[in-house]
Amino acid sequence: MKNECKDYLRSMSSFDRNKPYNELPLLPPRQELETPQVLRKTISASRALAHLNGALINLPNPHLFLDTIHFKEAKASSEIENIVTTNDDLYQSVVAEKKFDNPAAKEVISYKNALWLGLQKIDRRPFVSTNLCIEIVQTITNNTAGIRVTPGATLSNSQGKVIYTPPEGETVIRDLMANLEKFINQNDSLDPLVKMAVMHYQFEAIHPFSDGNGRTGRILLLLYLKLAGLLDIPAIYLSEYIIRNKNAYYKKLRRVTEDQDWESFVIYMLDMVEHTSRDGLDRLEKILELMNWTSGQIKSGLPKVYSKELIEILFKLLYTKRKHLIEAGLGTPKTIGNYLVELEEKGFLKSVRVGKEKLYLNYRLMEILES
Ligand SMILES: Nc1ncnc2c1ncn2[C@@H]1O[C@H](COP(=O)(O)OP(=O)(O)OP(=O)(O)O)[C@@H](O)[C@H]1O
Ligand SMILES: [Mg+2]
Repeated sequence: MKNECKDYLRSMSSFDRNKPYNELPLLPPRQELETPQVLRKTISASRALAHLNGALINLPNPHLFLDTIHFKEAKASSEIENIVTTNDDLYQSVVAEKKFDNPAAKEVISYKNALWLGLQKIDRRPFVSTNLCIEIVQTITNNTAGIRVTPGATLSNSQGKVIYTPPEGETVIRDLMANLEKFINQNDSLDPLVKMAVMHYQFEAIHPFSDGNGRTGRILLLLYLKLAGLLDIPAIYLSEYIIRNKNAYYKKLRRVTEDQDWESFVIYMLDMVEHTSRDGLDRLEKILELMNWTSGQIKSGLPKVYSKELIEILFKLLYTKRKHLIEAGLGTPKTIGNYLVELEEKGFLKSVRVGKEKLYLNYRLMEILES
């Protein structure tokens, strides 16, 4: 059957929240997406994003903060599912030798790994495929589950009422994913940010997996920004925004399904880009200020301890330890031990014992990151 014909049949059948939505319309949407209001918002969102991108690529070491930023993004994204994890466990587990059996921290780490995996893959092959989505979800959920094959998946609201039943049947899901894949990767005249919004809705509406669709969909947003050349260094907190505005987000998703209201959804997503870009830029400026300040203070107060490498290590991850500084060749174990004591005495770091080791927290950086 020709696609236009399938589309026509799809448009004839209406949505029923209790029935698998196998008639989910194919992409691109038939209606005009770039309305005057959308276009206006696209301009301000792109501008904010471009400012952030410019600031990031002009950093002397643009990848320095990425680890920390991705942890925070991973944490926010995982929290949507009410996985509460303390920062201490989470950030400490990255550097500590002690094994943490905190399942929430593990989940956050898996999410971060999935994000890295995705970024590496698109660096090698700039293409978003169904298989890439499968690899991402498997990394997030730490299992080998692929496309949803068992029937009966539903999405319910907090009162347990079914609000959406995603398409059912592996072939149906794979066909929809193939259409999405084509839409994402093909060249067309749609603004990339509008395209990102459409792609996100469609991915969530297909709901290809039994779990992890939200998290995979949010990772795809970052991958897409990079692919589209809009954000070369993926340092933006999209998930935090979605969590803060979760009710609106859920409502807008439903309105696309129920009323074909693409405009409000696209505007919601553009707002997200604009706000998070501005926040990102603010935060980045604060971090740079703190880094300069710390650098100056250590240089004048502890001139023997100061080195550019030391400052970079203190800002790479929230916690550091003796081993990191020794490995960076900053001194003998004894000297490094003394450096850390002095840095703590002067109030630059706070130490904490974790298992058998001492970790040193750059608590001022933590404050900026968590504000
Ligand atoms: N009405 C809806 N139509 C389509 N997709 C929806 C709808 N309501 C919610 N969603 C999407 O489903 C996601 C949740 O799916 P799932 O539980 O598989 O993902 P998750 O990653 O485990 O959870 P979460 O996103 O809550 O962290 C939401 O994040 C949202 O993107
Ligand atoms: Mg889930």
